[in-house]
Amino acid sequence: MEAFRIIGGKPLVGTVRVCAAKNAVLPILAACMLLHEPVTLNGCPYLSDVENMLSLLCALGCRTRREGKTIQIDPKGADGCVMPEALSSALRSSIFMLGPVLARNGMADFAYPGGCEIGARPIDLHLQGLRKLGAHIEEKHGRIRCEGKLRGAHIHLDYPSVGATENILMAALCAEGTTVLSNAAREPEVNDLANFLRTCGGRIEGVGTGTLTIHNSVLHGCTYAPVPDRITAGTLLIGAAMTGGRVTVADAVPEHLLALTEKLKEAGCQVLCDESGVTASRTGKLLPISRLETAPFPGFPTDLQAPMTALLTQAVGTSLMQEKVFENRMLHVPELKKLGADITVQGNSAIVSGGRPLYGAEVTAKDLRAGAALCLAGLCAQGETIVKNVRLIDRGYARFEEILKSLGTDIERIERND
Ligand code: UD1
Repeated sequence: MEAFRIIGGKPLVGTVRVCAAKNAVLPILAACMLLHEPVTLNGCPYLSDVENMLSLLCALGCRTRREGKTIQIDPKGADGCVMPEALSSALRSSIFMLGPVLARNGMADFAYPGGCEIGARPIDLHLQGLRKLGAHIEEKHGRIRCEGKLRGAHIHLDYPSVGATENILMAALCAEGTTVLSNAAREPEVNDLANFLRTCGGRIEGVGTGTLTIHNSVLHGCTYAPVPDRITAGTLLIGAAMTGGRVTVADAVPEHLLALTEKLKEAGCQVLCDESGVTASRTGKLLPISRLETAPFPGFPTDLQAPMTALLTQAVGTSLMQEKVFENRMLHVPELKKLGADITVQGNSAIVSGGRPLYGAEVTAKDLRAGAALCLAGLCAQGETIVKNVRLIDRGYARFEEILKSLGTDIERIERND
């Protein structure tokens, strides 16, 4: 088991670039199953989720090659329809393949991806959408079998689910006629998938709005650079604010980070967006935030809730953080308390009585973003913090410790026997 050993007390200072967003790369890799020509993706991070997705593509008959951060996928002849159970359960994002595989091969037989640390994560909206497109779907013994020829339809999502929007968007491009998808998710990664598909010849209107109009399209290969990772960027900006440092994320897109940067300003931090990137810094004391709730984009991202909660432990006064997207995303709180934070959880709300010093301790990453939050807290804490279970952090932050070290902090990866 690997862990991070952190000696707190040094602020994050410097300039970094982030890789392509995991949440953009994963659906774009799934979209390759719609194509019959090679695709080249630039700037792709080394993350266990990305490598697992490449294994899924190979299992379905694609050929893939990685050279540094460039990935090539050749989907010619990828006629696999059955997803091996071990692979689909290793990666929740295997569900993104359902729409494309069905659209390509007329059939898809997948294992149910199941829940995960942060909640039950149902896929009812994905399946409802595919049914509306004409798929016949049977759910039996933990597997989902979809069949049928797809036809354009009007689909309204009860909730703007990121994954459901992406799955339906991909399937609809190969469905006969036109599909209108309303109450669609507007996350930058959804728009990036649509832009990738447009680069491949996909006819999609309304990108960036809540209504997508998707026309049956003939797709071709392309070279594409997915959007920079706003969650990694946001985590580092929070780290700068929390430790009283100054970090510039050179390739961050300011509009993608607006919900965060507005809250950082409210907490007394300085934020600058200019040609050098997005910079967050803090010289004065951190102020509490009376109420912050997570929401679909352009709201405050659930993926930054845990890091922001860690920050609020250092704001003098009481803050309220409400998790409104996932039902079980307060797993970082008991661990933050081990470091000395004063937080009370009521349902999906965390009441943070901030301003107490944190002290190094042994803590465990219970999910990806919770793990990042613990690293930031460790960087603020006095003495040594050990963050265990870093394999979860490796799912979404490529060599997180190296980025943090390059910003002047004291962190290393160590082997642990427990
Ligand atoms: C994606 C992101 C994840 C992010 C989340 C919300 C990827 C790989 N992951 O996850 O990092 O935290 O968006 O921004 O892109 N829901 C249903 N039924 C469904 C689908 C979703 O009830 O069929 C619920 C979920 O349980 C959850 C909420 O809707 O409570 C949001 O989920 P969704 O937007 O679908 O997130 P993901 O695509 O799973």
